[in-house]
Amino acid sequence: MSKEIKFNDETFALVQKIIKRYPEGKHKSALLPVLHIAQAEFGGWLSPETMDYVASILNIQSIEVYEVASFYSMYNLKPVGKCLLEVCRTSSCWARGAEDVVKHIEKRLGIKDGETTKDGMFTLKTVECLGSCGTAPMMQVGASFHENLTFEKVDGLIDDYRASGKQRSYTDLDYKNTL
Ligand code: FES
Repeated sequence: MSKEIKFNDETFALVQKIIKRYPEGKHKSALLPVLHIAQAEFGGWLSPETMDYVASILNIQSIEVYEVASFYSMYNLKPVGKCLLEVCRTSSCWARGAEDVVKHIEKRLGIKDGETTKDGMFTLKTVECLGSCGTAPMMQVGASFHENLTFEKVDGLIDDYRASGKQRSYTDLDYKNTL
């Protein structure tokens, strides 16, 4: 049986605090931070049930949540591995070899862009500019930016993440205090 989609009391109180930042009738404005919380709390991705739950809290239509969640690459609409390797593919990174970095990761992990390794450890995802253009090529893994990537650096990171068994997540950073 799947786990019930419901924030615990502490998280629900945080969500209510965020919603109250916005005037009555404008609660939809809280959608982005609430989706971040929901994704962190419910397994690293946004299932239809999770998005429906968020819609019910904000008193908006589910389709309004789906539209936003499917627009931004930081929201995952399918399950991801313990480590989500998000490689920037936009101009600066592209010009400095992002495509080759992606090919290297694909070969090393035996997966294609958008896929997850069989052991559930890594998911590879190419994304648009992450705002670290001066240190291209780069990738984000959880809450960490890894910059000036080389094949050797990527190999070392994969080894380190595999050894630790997890990425540094937003939850590890105590995101609840940053929202
Ligand atoms: S182009 Fe890659 S971080 Fe901006």
